[in-house]
Amino acid sequence: MPQARTMAARCRLLALVVLISLGVITLLQSLQRTPSIHDIPLSIRGHRFGSSSGPKRSPSIRIKKVSALFGEPNYLYEAALATHERHNALHGYQMQVLRERIHASFLAKPAYLMSVLVEELAKPWDERAQWLAWVDPDTLVLNQQIPLELFMPPPDEEINLIATHDDDGYFNGGVFFLKVDSWSLEFLIQVLAVPLTDRKHHVSLNKDHAALEQIMENQRFRSRVTYQPRLWYNAFDYNKTYEGESGNLMVHLLDLGGDKWARMDKYLGNVTSKVNPHEVPLEQTTYEKQVQSFWKRMADSRKILKEAKLKEKGHDGIKEAARRLKFALDFETDNEVVIRGAYDSLLKALYENK
Ligand SMILES: *[C@@H]1O[C@H](CO)[C@@H](O)[C@H](O)[C@H]1NC(C)=O
Ligand SMILES: *[C@@H]1O[C@H](CO)[C@@H](O)[C@H](O)[C@H]1NC(C)=O
Repeated sequence: MPQARTMAARCRLLALVVLISLGVITLLQSLQRTPSIHDIPLSIRGHRFGSSSGPKRSPSIRIKKVSALFGEPNYLYEAALATHERHNALHGYQMQVLRERIHASFLAKPAYLMSVLVEELAKPWDERAQWLAWVDPDTLVLNQQIPLELFMPPPDEEINLIATHDDDGYFNGGVFFLKVDSWSLEFLIQVLAVPLTDRKHHVSLNKDHAALEQIMENQRFRSRVTYQPRLWYNAFDYNKTYEGESGNLMVHLLDLGGDKWARMDKYLGNVTSKVNPHEVPLEQTTYEKQVQSFWKRMADSRKILKEAKLKEKGHDGIKEAARRLKFALDFETDNEVVIRGAYDSLLKALYENK
């Protein structure tokens, strides 16, 4: 069978060539240095800060949505929750909804979150939800095809709470994510312990948001809190206008500019119609790219802050730029322009003080 033997020889040769090529590629990749501040001139010219390549999503994270809906029956809120139920069924999320008033005041949200959190913590690790996603009943899912795990931090990020801001820079509690672990339990204990009279409140109805925000910004907790662009999953509708883009995951019907119920009705009509104009497959959106860049910006910022720490002694320029980036990392991660600006300034300061 000389022919078969030649075939086998050819296959072996081919395999060898592939193997050697792979080896060479791996070697070349390992030789590429990770960028450091010594590459600064290059970095300043169109560097790749925050951009990244290839999908790198956290695999199968167990998520449970949590909401509260009680009081007078409201078919619009029920219908909004039903859009979440469909989303849950599609992506395998559990959901728990508070159906009874548990306290006369505004403590319901953090109190109920804490009860669900403790319930999850009491389960064996492989059965418990890893993240809780709070969703208000005036949010509804517009694009069923966007999964929540997309927004979760990569495994090496120590983040426990992911939230969004309103236009005035205040925390908006319509949708946010809380990791299931003891840090989050401590966090909620602190929130519930904020003295009632201390609860600063900007929008009078949202005292629970104010208490959450107060602890989120607390020195002890803020490093594990991050803010993402609200268009991703908490896009507002106010004054009869949707601020989101085609394909965005959710809408949050704010009670501003009136007409909330009519607007809600319109959205519900759209998302339950045969051709939902908001439904766009994930691959046809910029979600994955945007979220990857977000986490890369975080990692890059932390890295350069570490370098700055080593070099800031006696260099006020570095110190000040580092302070600015640290502040942005604590409070402004949802603002790409601000983070990029602060990063570039620190890079420049490091270069000038080399
Ligand atoms: C809604 O529109 C009114 C009048 O056009 C304006 O006064 C108000 O500030 C707007 N509200 C928001 C939240 O944009
Ligand atoms: C509903 O869909 C129509 C047709 O695509 C669109 O013009 C309208 O803006 C949508 N309204 C809402 C509230 O989603």
